[in-house]
Parts: sequence; C-alpha cells; structure tokens
Amino acid sequence: MSVIQADSLCKSYGDTVAVEDLSFAVEAGKIIGLLGPNGAGKTTTINMLTTLISIDSGAGTVAGFDVASSPHAVRQLIGLAGQNAAVDEKLTARENLELFGRFYKIPKDTLKRRIEDLVETFRMGDYADRTAETYSGGQRRRLDVVAALVANPPALFLDEPTTGLDPRSRADMWDAITDLAAGGTAIVLTTQYLEEADRLADEILLIDQGIAVARGTPEELKRGLENDVLDVHFPDERELDKAVAVIDDELISSIDRDAGLIRIPVKSNARSSLSILRSIDDADIELVDYQLRRPTLDDVFLELTGDGPSAPAERSTQ
Ligand SMILES: Nc1ncnc2c1ncn2[C@@H]1O[C@H](COP(=O)(O)OP(=O)(O)OP(=O)(O)O)[C@@H](O)[C@H]1O
Ligand SMILES: [Mg+2]
Repeated sequence: MSVIQADSLCKSYGDTVAVEDLSFAVEAGKIIGLLGPNGAGKTTTINMLTTLISIDSGAGTVAGFDVASSPHAVRQLIGLAGQNAAVDEKLTARENLELFGRFYKIPKDTLKRRIEDLVETFRMGDYADRTAETYSGGQRRRLDVVAALVANPPALFLDEPTTGLDPRSRADMWDAITDLAAGGTAIVLTTQYLEEADRLADEILLIDQGIAVARGTPEELKRGLENDVLDVHFPDERELDKAVAVIDDELISSIDRDAGLIRIPVKSNARSSLSILRSIDDADIELVDYQLRRPTLDDVFLELTGDGPSAPAERSTQ
C-alpha cells in the first residue's frame, strides 16, 4: 500500500494553473523526486499534500487519511521541510527541535535522545545552542530539514532540502535521506539538482507548468533519449557564435553562452560527431575541448521542458 498518494491534484491561482491533474504514489521506503523548472508547481504540490493549502480538485492521502477531510491526523504523520524556513529565529536549534517534538507528543526522554542523535548526525554541535537568527543560510537550512525528522514520521516531504548547502553538507544530507528511506520512510523530494534526483529518487516526476511531462526511474528517463550527446566547449562567445553559424541549427539541442558550450545530440556513432567537429575545424574556429557522452537527466530536462533548472553555478555538464 502506498503511504503517500496524490490523485489528479489540481490547483489554480486566478488564471495561473499551478498544478494540473498530477497523480503519483509513494510506497514505504521509496523516494519520489519532483523535478521541474521554477514555477513548475513543485511547492504547490507539496503544500497541498501537507495540508498547507486547499486542493481545488483531486485528492491526497497520507497513510490512508484524506488530506482535506483529516488534516489533523495527516499532520501527525508527516514531516515537512518547506521551501521557506519554519524555525523560530529567537530559539536555539535544540529548543526548536524540542518544540517540534512536543507537537508530535514525543515523550520527553525519547525526544531528548532523538535530538542529541540528530545534532550529532547532522554535525550541528557547534551552533546548536545559539539562537537561529545567528545561523548561516546553510546552518538554517539544515535545522529546517532536521526539524522535519524529529518525529521519524512515516511520510516525509522535503522541498529542496539541499539548496544552499555546501558539498559536504549536501553529501551528509543525501546519506541521511537514503538512510531514512532504508528505514521505511516514504519521501517526496523536490530538487533543482538533477544529480540529486538521479542519486536519490526511485522514481522521478518531471513537471513543467503544473503538468507531469515525464515519469520513470532515472535510468528509464535517460534511456528515453536515443542519442548520445556531443558537448563542444569554446573559449569565448565569439568562437561559439562562429560555430553556431556553421553547424546546422536543427542539430543543436542547446547553447549555454556563459559556459561557452554547445550540446548536440548525435546518433551513437562516431561519424556524425566527426563531421560536426570537422566543419568547426574547417572554419578555423577555436575550441577548448569536446566530449561525446551518454545523455544525463540534464538532457532529458532540456529536451522536455526546453529549459534547464535554474542553478547555473551548480550545473554539471557531465
Ligand atoms: N499564493 C499564490 N498566488 C498566486 N500564484 C501562486 C501562488 N503560489 C504559487 N503560485 C504560482 O503557481 C505556480 C507554481 O508555483 P510553485 O511555487 O509551486 O513552483 P515551484 O515548482 O515550487 O517553483 P520553484 O522551483 O521556484 O520553487 C507559479 O506560477 C507561481 O507563480
Ligand atoms: Mg518551490
């Protein structure tokens, strides 16, 4: 039986359709990744399933409880790390966690042990007794996510849990999320990092403008792209523009000017890549390097939404 279920969820704000006919189910121990560009409807979906906003039509259930008709029961069964901080700035991390624990009616001793565990696991010891207003962005984000874990709820909603975390904290968080799933928690995760969805999610739901445009395991989504990808890097925009002029428009899947990168899907043989590289060379265009590779989720994203997720600095062209 699924722990979290969304059936044809719909939500509009005036003329804006935020979520349209979205359905998915998450079993115990599984992670679903909601992936989509800014404004795709990820947070709206999470907010509906966690009782924060009303559902226009469709239904959501958590452990069999209907989100709309049994919000109190649902709240006791879920942990939520929302996109906006829910911590009390005037309290320390330990005090914040105690507050969350009391909401879930966790016995005092159990709660105390649980908090110490979490503080240690998430390396929060250095600042756990300072008030949250003094925290860095990443420290605050970590507290937010940890607060969702206090009660060890069967259903967990994590809205961009690693945004703003440094690589080591992100790796810690990935380990923690993997452990939670291994322990039986059903998890809905949104992320802007394709690599994160690739690493963590059992199933990915690619959303664009409120609509699910693709779903499957990370492998299935990648397999859906027939072609390999030729990445060609140029030293500057001038060389890149010259290359764009000599390569057939239809061949290019995307151009990243800042990175000086052109992506060209090619059939899995060296010949088409060679002819493209030859035409660049014949025109005396300088390039930094090139790479022929298997498609990544990034490419699935670009192909289906015509837009990459908005984290340019973090984007990997691997
Ligand atoms: N309270 C609101 N009033 C009006 N429009 C809203 C409201 N909340 C969300 N929207 C709109 O609904 C759409 C979906 O927003 P949502 O926050 O769910 O996107 P998201 O996928 O979480 O984006 P991001 O990656 O930026 O967090 C957007 O077009 C947004 O402007
Ligand atoms: Mg959001």
